[in-house]
Amino acid sequence: MAKRKMILDLDTGIDDAMAIAYAVGAPDVDLIGIISSYGNVVVDQAAYNSLQILALLGATDVPVFVGEPHASTTEHFDVMAISEQIHGKNGIGEVDLPTPTRQPETQSGVDFLIEAAHQYGADLTLIPTGPLTNLAAALEKSPDIAHLIGNVTLMGGALTVPGNVSHYAEANINQDAEAANAVFTSDLDLTMVGLDVTLRTLLTKTETSQWRALKTTAGEKFADIVDYYIAAYDITSPDLHGCALHDPLAVGVALDPTFVTTLGLNMYVETTGEDYGRTIGDPARLDDPKTNVTVALTVDKDRYLKTFMTYLTTLFKAN
Ligand code: BDR
Ligand code: CA
Repeated sequence: MAKRKMILDLDTGIDDAMAIAYAVGAPDVDLIGIISSYGNVVVDQAAYNSLQILALLGATDVPVFVGEPHASTTEHFDVMAISEQIHGKNGIGEVDLPTPTRQPETQSGVDFLIEAAHQYGADLTLIPTGPLTNLAAALEKSPDIAHLIGNVTLMGGALTVPGNVSHYAEANINQDAEAANAVFTSDLDLTMVGLDVTLRTLLTKTETSQWRALKTTAGEKFADIVDYYIAAYDITSPDLHGCALHDPLAVGVALDPTFVTTLGLNMYVETTGEDYGRTIGDPARLDDPKTNVTVALTVDKDRYLKTFMTYLTTLFKAN
């Protein structure tokens, strides 16, 4: 089977950790690296969490690169109280995992991305599931990567539903709307997996209890981590009756676009006013027949969840 070269760009909280597990468990992925971002946690913690999760899954061959610590429009980043509530202070549900033996690489995340884009070109899939700061910085430093990278499938944004940090804005986009706008208006081939579909793709304790029953370290630790997230959702979004599989859905859609129905649209991101962070059609390019964003609108959640459980359960059984 031809394996897809994949880079994940993560602010490693709990659903980012599930995105790592999906990519490591998928038979058709060659995970060539993870870049860290800020959001659910600060950037160094995100790198540390990714290394811990990779070790838990027996994937210590995957290198981790540290990305940008904050948006270029700000001096500093502080984790929001709501992020700590949903992901825990350490980002992985206050679960203790061993200190990773591998360190983050010395090359920066931005340089790693630029180098990989030149090396793999159209074979490369990038999956950002945090702010788009790293990708925008790479685009600024090496604009040619917009025509090199095969596809960017991002978790972020909301087109047909309200945002989750403001009426308009989804959290990843809201962290750095300027970066998101640079990405959305670039020539990159983008797929947007936003709240439109991720809030319809839920996991419950029925599934995590299956992991726990495996009686492996990975199964039990992941059940502990994700149960923390489910408990937080029970408080913040009781109507959902489960936790949203935001980030692992982006990995799933990148590998199998038939999980979702889509709309081709030229988009931009609002960077001022009360709708800061809104992902919406670009009036200036609405009539352009060539579109650069494929927006996921509906999802076959039952088929996705089946695949998700097959990949993660098989992986946890072995670790
Ligand atoms: C997104 O924000 C982060 O908290 C999650 O990991 C996910 O990527 C959901 O809005
Ligand atoms: Ca994330």
